[in-house]
Formats: sequence, structure tokens, C-alpha cells
Amino acid sequence: MGTPGYRDHPVADWDSDATADWGEAEEFLHKYHAENPGAGSLPARLAEVYAEISRTGTYEHTLDEITYGAKMAWRNASRCIGRLYWRSLHVLDRRAARTPHEIYAALVRHLEVASGTDVRPGSRAGRQGAIRPVLSVFAPAKPGQPYARVWNDQLIRYAGYRLPDGSLIGDPSQTEFTESMELLGWKGQGTPFDVLPLVIETPQHGTHMYELPGSAVLEVPLAHPEHDWFLELGLRWYAVPAIANQRLSIGGVSYPLAPFNGWYMGTEIGARNLADTDRYNLLPLVAQWLGLDMSSETTLWRDRALVELNRAVLHSFARAGVKMSDHHTEAARFLEHVRREQQAGREVPADWSWIVPPMSGAATPVFHRYYHEADQRPNFYLDEEARLLARSGRPRAGLHL
Ligand code: ARG
Repeated sequence: MGTPGYRDHPVADWDSDATADWGEAEEFLHKYHAENPGAGSLPARLAEVYAEISRTGTYEHTLDEITYGAKMAWRNASRCIGRLYWRSLHVLDRRAARTPHEIYAALVRHLEVASGTDVRPGSRAGRQGAIRPVLSVFAPAKPGQPYARVWNDQLIRYAGYRLPDGSLIGDPSQTEFTESMELLGWKGQGTPFDVLPLVIETPQHGTHMYELPGSAVLEVPLAHPEHDWFLELGLRWYAVPAIANQRLSIGGVSYPLAPFNGWYMGTEIGARNLADTDRYNLLPLVAQWLGLDMSSETTLWRDRALVELNRAVLHSFARAGVKMSDHHTEAARFLEHVRREQQAGREVPADWSWIVPPMSGAATPVFHRYYHEADQRPNFYLDEEARLLARSGRPRAGLHL
């Protein structure tokens, strides 16, 4: 569910005034060098970083450190079932981007590279739909200084409209954000799947709103392998889930803007986004079209509708040539990841309640065991202020009016 609560484990609020923590820097550099024996002299790097923190309050990561640090952050993301491929993360160094427009251009490029829709000459992008895990890292926060950020929680999200009669069109989780965008002058088409604009804020230039171009938003219309009527429901979903408002923390340095994406697992869309009662809430509609007996819960009409909705999601992405995995395959891969990590002498931090898929939990192998619960760094953190901005589309002061 979209409501905060027990699923959002508390995160010690980040103090953006504090200098880079030497202990964390040291721990990260030790791990980075231990896992990358070719990375040069550890004592020399430690001395350099110690001096830099003493002098400036922070330090600059090398391109290799930041690239490997981002991969480690993925490896430590306790809620992610898709971590087997953590080494394949494609890291784009955008630390030099300063203006909202530079940041916007880099975000568009991020989505094009991730979707395989990048058609620029000489680009190494693959086929359209061959989703690649990508992370773009922008400038780190400097102690006591304001930093650039994106308000949206994902680069691509559908608007939600509250109509005067109390009904809803689109994604109910986005109604507050959508209303704020409308107050800022944005106007959506009013369909259930209008892509929201991006809000980019920089210390020098304030807040700017941008529309994403079509090349950055690959989408898949949803059809069912057997039921022709399904296509007429007019459902669709975007191909690239790109988290935009989590802070990447590496070796005591915070990167408040470091959007990252993987590919979708079908249940994220079919068993949550389209099915949750506080999201698109489509199980009753699908059940009706399937002609199911909805007179009692014991007919399991919800469960049956859920399965058909999820079959449609997987079928549609496959026929559109857009990479997506199913929960059985992804669960098996996760346990393979746990095995490989143990072989490398590492524990895999994991949160059972997020790792177990939202349907058929016990039919997947990840259900039948416990996990190591730990907050290991590097990692990604959702700060309270970022969470509020994404929900409301308004800076905190506005919330207290
Ligand atoms: N569950 C979120 C969504 O449905 C996306 C989270 C990230 N998912 C991923 N496969 N990398 O939009």
C-alpha cells in the first residue's frame, strides 16, 4: 500500500550540515580495495582522503570508486529481489551537471539508455525494450550547502486526478502531486495514464518543470493472451521504473540526486500498481469481465482476476519486446545471488516482507526462509523531506500552512 507505516523502516535523518564521516570513508575504501585488488595503493588513498576531509569537510570520489560504490549500494538494497545482476549496473557520471536544463537533458538520456530508445549516432544503446539497469550520479551534497534534487519519486509516473464528484482518474497515489503540478501551470490530458512532468530544483536556479519527450517514455499497452476484450480496457504501463528521490550514500558522502532503474518484475504492476485498492484497483473490473462469481469471497474471484491480470502484464511486455521478469524466475535468481554472495564471503541483507512477491508468495522459494537484516553501506535512503516532496509536490513550508 502507498501509506507510510510499518513497511517504511525508520531512517535516521540525514544531517546535510555534517562533514563527511571519516569512519565511513575508511570502511568504504577498505572494502572497495579489498574487492578491487587492482585499484592501487590503499594507504595512499586513505591518507589523501583523510587530508581532503580535514581541509574541506568532504572528499571527491574517483570514477571507479563511485561506479563500484553505486553497485555496492544496489547489492545492499534489502528490499530488492533483483540483485543477482548488481555488477552489470551502468553508471553515468553526471557530477558536472549544474543547471536544471543540464540535469533534465541527463535524465532524458538516462531513460533513453535504460529503455534502449537512444538513437543518437554512435550510441552503444541496444534494441528498444532491452532494459538496462542504469544509475546517473549527480553532484554530491557539500556540508552545509543546498543541493540539486528532483521532487518526483520516479522519473516516470502517471498523474492522478480527483474529479469534483469524488471519483478518480489515473494513479490515486499521485493525486496530491498532480494537483501541485496543476497549480504550477501544468495541464494533463485527463487520461488514466498521463505522464507527469519532472520537477528539478537547483540552489542557483530554483524550481523548473519539464515534460519528458516520447523517446524517454517507452510504454506497453496491455493485452491478454486469450481474452480479446482485455485490450479494450485501455490499460498500459511504462517500461522503466526509475527511482528518483533516494539519496545514494557512499563512504560518508551523500548524493541526493542519483536516479536508478532496473527492469520490472510483472507483479509490481499486475499485483500492486494496477491491483491495490488504493492504486488502480482493477480486480473488480477484471473479475466482472471474466464473468466470475463475485457473490462471496470464497469463490476467490480476486485471486483469479489477479492471476489473469498478471498474465496480461507478462504477455504484453513479452510481445512488445520489453524486458520483464516473472516472480518465479526472479525468486530463483535471488537465491542464486544469496549463494554467490555467501561464496564470496558476504552476507546478503534482505527484508523478507519486500523480497517475497505480492502474489503466490509460498509458491516461490524466497518465502521459505529468513534473511540477514542489516543496514549496510553504501546504500540508498529515502529521506523524510524527499518523501514529502514526492507526495505533495510542494516544499515543506507549504505543508504547514
Ligand atoms: N515497485 C515500483 C513500481 O511499481 C518500482 C520499484 C523498482 N522496481 C524495479 N523493478 N527496479 O513502480
